Amino acid sequence: MHQLIESYIRAGFAGLYLVTHEEVRAERDLGTAAASLGYGLHTWSVTSGLLNVQSGAARRELTDPVEAVNAAADLPERTILVLKDFHQFLGDASQPASPLVTRSLKDRLRECRGGNKVILVTACLQRLPPELEKEFTVLTMPLPDAGVLRGLAGGLAESAALAADDASLDAAADAARGLTTPEAEDILALSVVRHRRLDPAFIADEKAKAIGKDGILELVQARASVQDVGGIDGLKEWISRRRNAFSREAAAFGLPPPKGILILGIPGTGKSLAARAVSSVLGVPLLKLDAGRLFGGLVGESEANLRKALQTAEAVSPCILWMDELEKGLSGARSSGMTDGGTSARVFGGMLSWMQDRTAPVFVVATANDVSQLPAELLRKGRFDELFFVDLPSAAEREAIWAIHVRRRGRDPGKLDLPTLAAMTENFTGAEIEQAVIDALYTCFDAGRDLDDFSLEDAIKATVPLSATMGDRLKELRQWARGRTRPASGSVRLESAGGRKGPDGSGGNGKGGVARKLAA
Ligand SMILES: Nc1ncnc2c1ncn2[C@@H]1O[C@H](COP(=O)(O)OP(=O)(O)O)[C@@H](O)[C@H]1O
Ligand SMILES: [Mg+2]
Repeated sequence: MHQLIESYIRAGFAGLYLVTHEEVRAERDLGTAAASLGYGLHTWSVTSGLLNVQSGAARRELTDPVEAVNAAADLPERTILVLKDFHQFLGDASQPASPLVTRSLKDRLRECRGGNKVILVTACLQRLPPELEKEFTVLTMPLPDAGVLRGLAGGLAESAALAADDASLDAAADAARGLTTPEAEDILALSVVRHRRLDPAFIADEKAKAIGKDGILELVQARASVQDVGGIDGLKEWISRRRNAFSREAAAFGLPPPKGILILGIPGTGKSLAARAVSSVLGVPLLKLDAGRLFGGLVGESEANLRKALQTAEAVSPCILWMDELEKGLSGARSSGMTDGGTSARVFGGMLSWMQDRTAPVFVVATANDVSQLPAELLRKGRFDELFFVDLPSAAEREAIWAIHVRRRGRDPGKLDLPTLAAMTENFTGAEIEQAVIDALYTCFDAGRDLDDFSLEDAIKATVPLSATMGDRLKELRQWARGRTRPASGSVRLESAGGRKGPDGSGGNGKGGVARKLAA
């Protein structure tokens, strides 16, 4: 990180804004950068005032933020002034920044450019009022890599006089990936205190809690196996062909890591379940992103939330980033920007460019119930490897789903007439079949008998499947999916509706990229 900061300072940038949760590491990096540039280093905080880091001279009384900014004028040339937590003086959604603060920053920054001085804000989140957006360059401090984490683990083992071999240090560091330095320190120390060793499983559990704290990302631990999913064989086959995609051997073979898939379909057909199964096939952690929670109330905060989430995913990688019910988070992105100042469009744009450019092996699994809510850019070629459409299960798929849920409730599917049950549940989703099993179990429990065909049939008869009430929407969805997506059930592509082809052989609707790719 210090090299990046140095390069900006060498290039003459006067205003830098460093987003980080790791003040200690940031200060250390800034010290290194200052030393190698031959610059002086001053820090300011609201509690300690102004401090010359190199000489130790302090002006403790200088606690006013405007005075702090203006102090830059009196500092010698070739100095970095670090303003700690200065986002707190830059306003928020409910209150704009003080004009005194913004104006003095602008004035001092202009002088700094001429005098080889740098004003560097450190803050845990990005918050820049419009007046200052062009004045500061925002840098995000990367999370510690495996090498740094291993160093932490090693230091801790040594100070606790633990015998830890290379393999166990590596395992501990690996389990801690995605944490900030202080989080990793705490968790590694906790592992030593509680278990007298660096326990990767414990570290991973604690990491899951730490990552989930802000409610945006969740490290999902309840995975599903492929056996838990009935039907959708095409999707299963596609993914199992890639089960070693993140291995060293695959990279050596010249395979680029797969980018991801979009699973589209009717609610209750097992899309979320399939996403969880994908993670166990690929054998990598599953991070669930709540797109709706990305949107913070403050200007710039949503973008910062996204950046942080993606940064965590990259640090944890190889992993799966699961965006469930994507349309809910992104529907605002289609809005003209009148409603939310264009925030959702910007966040969405950030997501798209990350999906396009990312180099870390993060496999995106997006699920969606409603395509009409999804912006067309998302479906363009290059974002996803494949778009899958999950339709209502076929008779054979329903039989498999019945068997799964009967077995899951500890009953023998062999004792039931599965073909009849499957035939009776045409147009049911997997979720509705599961619910019928549960309803029947209640009835049987109440009547004091075991699960049988009769009670299941009664439960079926009492159910009105969602598809019956969806009517036209279902038709539209299928129509849309035809020619654009690959059916999750089998390996054959749904034929283009009406067979109308564009000159390039695509569906002739401007979204030919994916269709063409799928046809290939
Ligand atoms: N194909 C399926 N095989 C087995 N169970 C299914 C299937 N589809 C749905 N279910 C059951 O219904 C539940 C809800 O499905 P879910 O994956 O949330 O659907 P979606 O995300 O498509 O709305 C699942 O947890 C599972 O128990
Ligand atoms: Mg779902």
